[in-house]
Amino acid sequence: MTALGKLFRTTTFKLTLVYLVVFALFAAFLLGYFALNTRRLINEQITDTINAEVTGLSEQYRQGGIRHLVVVVDARARRPGSSLYLVTTFAGEALAGNVGTLAPGVLDAPGWAETGYRRLDDAEGPEHHALVRVFQLPGGFRMLVGRDLDERERLFRIVLDTGRWSVVIVIVLGLLGGFFVTRRVLRRVDAMTGTTRTIMAGDLSGRLPVAGSGDEIDRLAENLNQMLERIEALMAGMREVSDNIAHDLKTPLTRLRNRAEEALRTAKGEGEYRAAIEHTIEESDGLIRTFNALLMIARAESGHARDDMSEFDAAEIARDVGELYEPLAEQKGITLKIEAATPAPVKGNRELVSQALANLVDNAIKYAGPGQPPVNGVPPEIVVRAFQDGERILLTVADGGPGIPAADRPRVVERFVRLEQSRSQPGSGLGLSLAAAVARLHGGELRFEDNKPGLKTIIALPRGGPVHSGG
Ligand SMILES: Nc1ncnc2c1ncn2[C@@H]1O[C@H](COP(=O)(O)OP(=O)(O)OP(=O)(O)O)[C@@H](O)[C@H]1O
Ligand SMILES: [Mg+2]
Repeated sequence: MTALGKLFRTTTFKLTLVYLVVFALFAAFLLGYFALNTRRLINEQITDTINAEVTGLSEQYRQGGIRHLVVVVDARARRPGSSLYLVTTFAGEALAGNVGTLAPGVLDAPGWAETGYRRLDDAEGPEHHALVRVFQLPGGFRMLVGRDLDERERLFRIVLDTGRWSVVIVIVLGLLGGFFVTRRVLRRVDAMTGTTRTIMAGDLSGRLPVAGSGDEIDRLAENLNQMLERIEALMAGMREVSDNIAHDLKTPLTRLRNRAEEALRTAKGEGEYRAAIEHTIEESDGLIRTFNALLMIARAESGHARDDMSEFDAAEIARDVGELYEPLAEQKGITLKIEAATPAPVKGNRELVSQALANLVDNAIKYAGPGQPPVNGVPPEIVVRAFQDGERILLTVADGGPGIPAADRPRVVERFVRLEQSRSQPGSGLGLSLAAAVARLHGGELRFEDNKPGLKTIIALPRGGPVHSGG
């Protein structure tokens, strides 16, 4: 398609054309109406003057007879201007006036007529046009009073010509305007199309150009850019997740496979086979746990879990989780203290919040447990609390362990991140990721504080559930 063809096919140009046609028609109608009305007005004026003159001259005739009329008409006929006069006998013989020849028969019909004529002083010249009134005087004389119409026609033509040119200029200017506006719009749309092509080709970093005029195209571009930014972030996140998964699941799977192979090669007797199989099951359980954790994080991050929210008591969750981990804590010689006596109602996804809190308690038991010398003879203690704080509900888990250095805190919520010091403990580095994702899902946050000594992890959730910010 040629550039011009493309231009003519744009909506902007078509709209311009429609407006132009409507406007030109309207302008033509308006100017035509104006011209006709001007002509009518001039006609009216001429008739009025002629009528007044006929009345005046008839009066002169009535008062002074034909002689007096002839003198008066002679005098008037000599004045320069477009007025026409003629007084004749019954037979048509001219007595006074400035009209030389008339179209035949005009004098015989009293009343109004538009006729061609020649002036007495310009008998050889071109014929002119006039509006005349023929009047029968008592006594058989005839009188004609009229006005030359050339002026009227000239004026009419001037108005018509002006009108025609105005319409032509309007159309030309309109077309030029439409052309330039369309070209501007087209250029911007073309730039956008170019960018979308690069994006479609896989380069998500492209952004649509924004002219900065704040018009509708800019707004569209800004919105699309925001969308692109979001998509890019999501894609980056997905890529990271899949990379992580590939990397972090590959190791245990390879280990699992190698152990099985080794057992097959070297194991002697049923006992050793049994041990190898038990080991395989254990490792597989670990993998399944990791998969489940990943799935749960994905669920929390997708936002679908937002549709599955109800009112529940966070204090009750704290008590349930406490009860669940009580045996494990006891086994490790840790005191697990639950402080959640007063109800703390909150709107959210009960299952996910439970799991998030369980992950925090699990960490506390894992990392702040045995090995920590009893402080003043008191065994290590973990305090789980659930309470309301203004418009928020807080779930906190405080331990007396080594804590997480401030510099590492942003990092530990990422998937598969485990600190060097905790490598001796089992785990896949997904527990805090889920807690953080759950907090985000609810419009809340996961915070770390220093428990001096130890770590205090806080899940803060808005009481009324997530606030939908329009999207
Ligand atoms: N209470 C804590 N005290 C000290 N370090 C902690 C504590 N909680 C978490 N960490 C550190 O943060 C890291 C990430 O924790 P996270 O719960 O995400 O993973 P994990 O416990 O290693 O594995 P998972 O929870 O998936 O079994 C841990 O490996 C540990 O280094
Ligand atoms: Mg954990």
